[in-house]
Amino acid sequence: MLVRLKTPEAVARAAAAAIVESAFKAIHEHGEFRLVLAGGHTPGATYELLATELREEIDWRRVIFYFGDERCVGPDDPASNYRMAKEALFDPLKLQGGSVRRMAGELAPDAAAADYDAEIRAVIADRQPAFDLTLLGMGGEGHTASLFPGSAALEETTRTIAHVTVPADPPDRLTMTPVALAASRQILFLVTGKEKAKALAKVFGGGDDLPAARVAQLGPSRFLVDAAAASKLPE
Ligand code: 6PG
Repeated sequence: MLVRLKTPEAVARAAAAAIVESAFKAIHEHGEFRLVLAGGHTPGATYELLATELREEIDWRRVIFYFGDERCVGPDDPASNYRMAKEALFDPLKLQGGSVRRMAGELAPDAAAADYDAEIRAVIADRQPAFDLTLLGMGGEGHTASLFPGSAALEETTRTIAHVTVPADPPDRLTMTPVALAASRQILFLVTGKEKAKALAKVFGGGDDLPAARVAQLGPSRFLVDAAAASKLPE
């Protein structure tokens, strides 16, 4: 499903509202909210809204944060998705304890992937759908998480987490595979900027082979997009 908004700020506001709603439902039903965070830059504004204007809307003690992907770098590295979320969300909320389930980008990639795979398998075994909401972004060529066009990880049917080498910097990544992404009650794509317009037009024009299109078909999903990203879509 496509939700067209005017600006990146409107996308951030709509995403934050959707997260608050999903959290309320999950905490009411399960006593906890399992949220998978997206990396990259786009979600930063959403995380900042949650940590400021909307911080009282969610019982953060009942939230468990997972990551859809991570760069194989340390947690303090400027390229780290964890660091972005820590600065925009975790630190302002002064989160305590083990509520943030970080992918260990500093470890040997295959070992880090195996560790997180074991954790995600346990979460999936515990409850279906395992995650209440998964946030994802989309790259200019249609990648999502760290699943790039042509990646063998797109065909994965057993492992929930894979170590992949991608045509972006840094190349070594850890990513949820379709096995993990399919275990979400809903997926919310946040897509802004004209550099995403071509890929978005393909996703909604029948480009089923793009990773974002394939992941969107794994379960209930919505695309929150701004006018720039939607500029090549039919009116
Ligand atoms: C990452 C993300 C990646 C991101 C897209 C969009 O680790 O970079 O998982 O999939 O969501 O590349 O990135 P921007 O939000 O920076 O445009």
